[in-house]
Order: sequence, then structure tokens, then C-alpha cells
Amino acid sequence: MLEQVKVNYLWWQTGVIYQIYPRSFKDTTNNGVGDLNGIIEKLDYLSETLGVDCLWLSPFYPSPQVDFGYDVADFTNVDPLFGTLADFDRLVQASHQRGLKLIIDFVPNHSSDQHPWFIESRSSKDNPKRDWYIWKDAKPDGSVPNNWLSVFGGPAWTWEEETGQYYLHSFLKEQPDLNWRNPEVEAAMFDAMRFWLDRGIDGFRIDVAHFIMKDPDFRDNPIENKPMHRPMGEYTSQDHIHDIGHEDIHEAFRKIRRLLNEYSQTSERMCVAEIHEFNLEKWASYYGDNLDELHMPFNFLTLTKPWKAYAIRDVVESLENVLPEGAWPNYVLGNHDENRIVSRYGKAQARVAAMLLLTLRGTPTLYYGDEIGMPSAEFAQSLDPWGQNLEEAGRDGCRTPMQWDAGPNAGFTEESVTPWLPISNDVHVNDQVSEPASMLRLYQRLLAFRKTASALQWGSYQTVGNVPEDCFAYLRETENQRILVLLSFSDEQQNLHLESLGTGHLLLSTHLNKDHNVDLADITLRPHEGLLIELG
Ligand code: GLC
Repeated sequence: MLEQVKVNYLWWQTGVIYQIYPRSFKDTTNNGVGDLNGIIEKLDYLSETLGVDCLWLSPFYPSPQVDFGYDVADFTNVDPLFGTLADFDRLVQASHQRGLKLIIDFVPNHSSDQHPWFIESRSSKDNPKRDWYIWKDAKPDGSVPNNWLSVFGGPAWTWEEETGQYYLHSFLKEQPDLNWRNPEVEAAMFDAMRFWLDRGIDGFRIDVAHFIMKDPDFRDNPIENKPMHRPMGEYTSQDHIHDIGHEDIHEAFRKIRRLLNEYSQTSERMCVAEIHEFNLEKWASYYGDNLDELHMPFNFLTLTKPWKAYAIRDVVESLENVLPEGAWPNYVLGNHDENRIVSRYGKAQARVAAMLLLTLRGTPTLYYGDEIGMPSAEFAQSLDPWGQNLEEAGRDGCRTPMQWDAGPNAGFTEESVTPWLPISNDVHVNDQVSEPASMLRLYQRLLAFRKTASALQWGSYQTVGNVPEDCFAYLRETENQRILVLLSFSDEQQNLHLESLGTGHLLLSTHLNKDHNVDLADITLRPHEGLLIELG
């Protein structure tokens, strides 16, 4: 079905999100760690050179940095490591001046154990903040209250000798879970959201959003082998039906949506939430029965599949089928927890991945550095606590400093400084800006084209059948534009015969070196090539 006219598509629907891991973007204070002023310095790169629409910042809150900022010790401030609240305000202003939206990571499930709330909570059983976290007695034999496990390894319960109870932590023991069933906690977290919304941010990326509602009876999870797309040790030996995503989560999400709607009266605010849920019906339920919950739960499904044409087509079709009417899709191929695209799919296929991500229906999220093809680095020792507990799970590799130029430390920080993680390899923004067929040039072209193409921004999606098995082809279509996307997942030449689609002219090849016209009756895709074709 064609959508007839552009009916008020919102910025987060037509735009492209770019994730910045602040520690690794640009260091202006010469301490080896990136900062907010570094991001301000690079805004022209983001808005003009690259051409993204919205920035998502991973946490910059005061934090002991045990989980590199996902252990928040103050939900309403900036860690001096990254700058000040005044720097943050300047960042909001400078982003908006360039037409960039800014969303920030919000971590509702847990705080740092150094947060004043937890310090109070652990101080005595009758402290008014005791019930802000989840404390339980031991079983009669002294063992843990139930079988719940920490994502990062070991039991989710830690014994506190002083007050004789266990506390719950779905991640590290330094990240105690907040008790969202306590209305005071909910109110305090809503105040924190308001604090940032009042400072002008455009929304949130909500960390492990579905973790905040757990079974009120704290029942054991059933034992069942549930492998994930990444090694997670013992954690995959359970079906996580009781420690995550209790049905009360829907009411919590509706409240968050109402808050954002309230602020949207002046300018549209949104939230996109990290939810690793691979049962698609359940995943889609987080949009809300009346689209009154999350604007988007992140869609990580592609990350769990082999990089094969049939598997990726299947992801897209399953998503298209399951989305409630009016729900807006989105796709993710990388973030600060995952192996980088180039390392996962190889250099040649990374270009096909870029075309896929930027031409599917819905909002794409890019991860800093993927636009220049930075690979994941390998390290003998892990700084990431997950990697320390479970070697294969380490995430340092995808978090190395952004590579700006061929100078010392890749322009991330000064020569005399040791960056918090070493520079990964020798690809750089500066070289790629001038190389005619670089990865960066491909991203620039795709982003620029997307900005002007109604079919890519809000057109319908339709799979095109009758193509070789290593190819994935689809049409994006509005009433005045029809774009055909052809992607080859193969290292051999592919021939396609699509005369039934009429005539077309070539807009872009992922190789960036093809300018002749195409004959739809006889199209050749070179190894690892993707083509964008406008149908006549
Ligand atoms: C999310 C974040 C991850 C973090 C974890 C605990 O999964 O993406 O980086 O370690 O939550 O907050």
C-alpha cells in the first residue's frame, strides 16, 4: 500500500541517530578520556561533513566508572571527567543551532553503589531509603533469596553483613537495582528525567528499560538453555521470565510516555529503549496497545542473525509483519556493547551493511567510528568488567577512541597523553574525507540522499522476489518516488533480471565508482555490491 502524502512525520522518524560514547570521541582536557567540549568541537563534522540528525550520548553522569558510566552516582549532574553542566547546556544549544537533536542515556534500573541513595539505603534496615533498593532475607539455610543471576556473571544477590540481608543487582554488585515499585523511587527518577528535559534535550535512550519491573513475588526463573547471540555464560541457562519484563512494565512505560508527551507540547521529545527481547510479539508490545508506550524499542534482531541475504530479509519481513499499525520500525547494527560491523561482516560487506541500514524503513542508529570502518580492537586484558568476569564478553574492542587524523593518537588526544584505550588501527576521518571511494564518502552519500528522498524517509517497504539467493532486493515507495535497493551478500558476481519493474536509473553503488545506467532486464552486481536505483 502506498502512503499518499507526508503526514507530519516527526524528526525521530525521518532522521538518523548517531551514538557517541563520550569517553572515546574527542579529548580536549588531555586526560586520555573524551569530554563534552570535545563533542562540541566535532559538531560541524557530525552535522555537515557526515550529515546525521540526532546525537545519542552514552552516560556522562558522575560515576565511579566501574561500568564506564552505567553506574550512576548522581542522575542530575555531569562527571567532572566529562565537563560541567554549563558545558552540557552549551552542547544542547550548539547542537540545536545546527539543527541536531540530542538525546541522552537514562539508566533507570540501577544506580552506583556510591549513589547517596544507596549509601543511605545500606546504612540500616530502618533507613527511609532502605526500600529504595531491593533487599531480601536469606533463605533459612543462608542462601540467596532466589536463583536470579547477574548479566555480568554470578548470582544477582550480594550479602550485606552489616544489616544481614541480600540486595539485588542485575548487573555488577556495584550497580544495585532500584525498587521501581516504591512510588518515591519512581517520583525521584521522573524528577531526574524532568531535570534534563527542562534543559532542552530531545529525549532519552533508556538503558535496559524492561528490567525495571520484576516479579513482585520474586519467583525462581525456570531452568532452560536460552543461548544469546553473544556468550553470556551461566546467564543463558535460565528463561528470564521473572527477573525481567513483568507485565507491570507496560504501566511504567505509559507513564514515561505521558511525561514525554507533556514536554512534546513545545517540541517533540522521544524515547528509544534498550530491550533485548527476541520474541517479536512481545517486543512489539512495548510500543503499547494504543502506541502509548515507547516511541521505539531498539530492534537488535539483525545482530542475532547470520549475515546472509535470506536471514536479513527474514528479519525485515518478520518486523514488518509484527509491527502494530502506526508503530515506527528501527534497525541497529552496532553499539557500545557489540562487535563492530567491519569485524562482524568483513570490510567489503560493511559497505553493503551501510546501504541496508540507511535504506530500510524506519530509524537507523549509527555507532561512532562505523562510518570510517573502524574495526573492533583485540586486547589481552579487559578493562570492561564483563570481560573480566567472562573473557569472551569483553566490550573494550568496540569502544576505542575515534580516529580523526593520521597525527599522534589519531587526533583523539595529544601526543603526550595515553588514551584510556589504545587507538585501534589506521583509518581516519581526514584521509577518508578526500578519498573518493572511502567508507566515509559512502555514508555521506547515503545520508545526503536519504535526506532528500521521501521514499527512503517514509515510503512503504516491499520485498522484491525472484533474485539470486545471495541477494536481497526491496522497494521503497511513496506516491512520487520509487526506489529499488539491491544488495549482494556474495563475493561473486550476481545477475538479476527485473524487467517487470520497468526502467530505472542508478543513484548510487556502494563501490562509488559506477555511473552508467542500468538495464533492469539485465543487472550485474559486482562482488559485495549494493545498488540504489530510482525507478522511472
Ligand atoms: C546496558 C548498556 C551496557 C551496560 C548495562 C548495564 O546493557 O548498554 O553498556 O553495561 O546496560 O547498565
